[in-house]
Amino acid sequence: MRKGVILAAGVGKRMKSETPKVLHKIFGFPILFYIIKTLKDSNLDKIYAVISDKIELFKNELNDDSINFLIQKVPLGTGDAVKCSLSEIEDDDEVLILPGDTPLIKKETIIKMFDKFEKVKPDVLLLTSILENPSPYGRIVRKDGKIYEIKEDKDLEDDEKLIKEINTSVYIFSGKILKKYLSKIDNKNAQKEYYLTDIIKFINLDDGKIESDFVDFEEVIGINTRKDLSNVFKIMNKRKIDELMDNGVTILDPDLTYISPFVTSKKDTEIFPGVYIEGEVHFGENCKVGPFVKISALDEVVIVEDNVKIGPFASIRDGTKLMKGSKAKTFVEIKKSTVGENSAVPHLSYIGDATIGKNVNIGAGTITCNFDGKKKNPTIIEDDVFIGSDSILVAKEGGLFIKKGSYTGAGSVITEDVPPYTLALGRARQINKEGRLKNDNG
Ligand code: UD1
Ligand code: CA
Repeated sequence: MRKGVILAAGVGKRMKSETPKVLHKIFGFPILFYIIKTLKDSNLDKIYAVISDKIELFKNELNDDSINFLIQKVPLGTGDAVKCSLSEIEDDDEVLILPGDTPLIKKETIIKMFDKFEKVKPDVLLLTSILENPSPYGRIVRKDGKIYEIKEDKDLEDDEKLIKEINTSVYIFSGKILKKYLSKIDNKNAQKEYYLTDIIKFINLDDGKIESDFVDFEEVIGINTRKDLSNVFKIMNKRKIDELMDNGVTILDPDLTYISPFVTSKKDTEIFPGVYIEGEVHFGENCKVGPFVKISALDEVVIVEDNVKIGPFASIRDGTKLMKGSKAKTFVEIKKSTVGENSAVPHLSYIGDATIGKNVNIGAGTITCNFDGKKKNPTIIEDDVFIGSDSILVAKEGGLFIKKGSYTGAGSVITEDVPPYTLALGRARQINKEGRLKNDNG
């Protein structure tokens, strides 16, 4: 079986945080989430994460029953961390080991590693990279071109400090080799840690087979500080923006546009500065988004069909569907609602838990009161309805229905269903008290 063991029990001191390092978020999801996603996309059979504690917090944040958590109470080193997984490993397993803080690693890299591992059948396949300034990484020490050992920065001799090939901490081991050598590792080194990397030496002593693959360093950048977190966020963002632009999407200012990896778009959609999109959002063709729009789809996907206009200054939330030619414009918030074809929510509205049909106009300032203090209730607005400005649509149990072709008068509070083709007025009639005020001008 192909198994993945993610090492995430380190202390992560440099984040200066109460939150475990790998639960810090990028585009709304924990760092660890991205690695797990990549491993799943690489078709691993089982995924383990070695963590130090707070297992309930991890379960809540990741919300994924397929992840098996293993506990390493005290971080005695990477070798000790992998030991925590040994009871789960069979001799004929192929075990991918990688750190939990490198969310930029690509599935293509992992799939390529497994392909090579299966073809060449080494004892271990290492992923290495070349760095001009290789400190503080562990170095790949070669003899006659062949990998001899991995030495940690703090244990290097002066001449070895010049080695530019580094250990990325991503490996595939055969299960048998891990079981055979892990128990032999000791902690007689500068950091008094059990180094996983010591296995390489043992394999060599037994004339084993060590293979390696190169990777672009960007993929294995680890997050250790808040600055690293920001740097990785920017790289992840740039990757997505480049991909979208290559596919015919206009993004005028990539430095002021933030798009999560789980966004897709068809061609000729234009995204203006100040747009922030997190979660899974799918755009059709010819949409216009922004400037200054937030779309958040961390829990439920957001669908934006062709020719939709969003913003400026709009907030579109989980589970919203904007159908062909619809609009959600200035100072509008829409949550878990469908806006039908050619319908418009142009100004200053909150639309929540609503289903809006075709060719509907929602007047400025309209609010769906979807929450009765205990639970959320739906609002159903059928085709060709015109909601007057500043309407308050109070959703009741079972839903508030505004039937086809109806109107609501401006400023109405609508608490009862409105039958088809009906003008509904729910407001006090105006009274003019003539002469009540003195006209000072005579
Ligand atoms: C490790 C490698 C080093 C490599 C570098 C790449 C070893 C001995 N060294 O060094 O060769 O260049 O990664 O980034 O493996 N962890 C645990 N439990 C522990 C210790 C660490 O789960 O007891 C986890 C950490 O959370 C982290 C990963 O293992 O995700 C790597 O640990 P870290 O201490 O950062 O290793 P480095 O010293 O950077
Ligand atoms: Ca360390």
